Amino acid sequence: MKILRKKAGAADNLRIPRHIAIIMDGNGRWAKKRGMPRTAGHAVGAETFRKIATYCKNIGVDYLTVYAFSTENWKRPAEEVAAIMSLLEKYLNEAIEKMEKDKIRLYIMGNMTPLSPKIKELAAHTAAISEKLSGFQVNLCLNYGGRDEIVRAAKRYAEEYKNGGAPELTEESFERYLYSNGIPDPDLVIRPSGEMRLSNFLIWQSAYSELYFTDALWPDFDEKELDRAITAFNRRERRFGGI
Ligand code: IPE
Ligand code: IPE
Ligand code: MG
Repeated sequence: MKILRKKAGAADNLRIPRHIAIIMDGNGRWAKKRGMPRTAGHAVGAETFRKIATYCKNIGVDYLTVYAFSTENWKRPAEEVAAIMSLLEKYLNEAIEKMEKDKIRLYIMGNMTPLSPKIKELAAHTAAISEKLSGFQVNLCLNYGGRDEIVRAAKRYAEEYKNGGAPELTEESFERYLYSNGIPDPDLVIRPSGEMRLSNFLIWQSAYSELYFTDALWPDFDEKELDRAITAFNRRERRFGGI
C-alpha cells in the first residue's frame, strides 16, 4: 500500500488503479442549471481538473488521462471552441511554470495539426520539460478521437512498411503507433454527467478497462466522487477473458 493514500483521504485498503482515465463531461449542463453561459462551466471544469490531478498524484495513481477536447467538439459554436482553447492555453502556461516543482509530467494526446501555433508551442514546451521528469503523468487528450488515433497509427505503419522498416503487425507492435505508446491501458475509465458512452475516447486502450459512470456533473466532481469510483473499482473482478 502506498503511504500517501491515507493522508489524501481515500478509503483504507483500496487498490489504487495505476491508470485512471476521465471523460470530463457535463460542464455545459452545470452552467445552464445556474443560468450561466456554457463557457463558465468550462472554467469551473478546468479547476476541477487541477484538483483531481493533484489528488490522483497524492493517492498514488501513476497515470491520469483526461478527455479535454474531442475531434468532434469542433462542431460546437466558434465562441465556445475559442473559450475552451483559451482555458487550455492558460492551463499549459501554468503547467510550464509549475510542473517541475509539482513533479507532474504532461503529455498531450491528439492531432495537433489544426491547433493554434501558440498551443503547439506550449505543447512542445511541456513535452520538453516532461522528458526531464519522472513519476506521475497526466495525459491531456486534445483534439483527440479514438478512431482518428487508430487511422493515424495505420497510416504511420503503412508508411514504415513502404519504406521497408516495419515490424510484423501484431496487437503489440501496432500499439507503438498509437499516441498511448508506452503507457499502460487505463484500469478505470470514469464518465460523469450521467451519459453512458465512450464518445470516441480511448477505444483501443479501454478494451478491458473497468467503466464507471456517475450522474455528478464534471464541475461538481470532487475527491469523494473519485474515492467512490475507486471503491467501485475495487469490487470489480477483472477476468480479461479468463475464469
Ligand atoms: C465537457 O462538457 C467539456 C467538453 C466537451 C469540452 P460539455 O461541454 O460536453 O458539457 P455538457 O455535456 O454539454 O453538459
Ligand atoms: C466527450 O464529451 C468529449 C469530452 C468530454 C472532451 P461530449 O459532450 O463531446 O460527448 P457527447 O457529444 O455527449 O457524446
Ligand atoms: Mg458533453
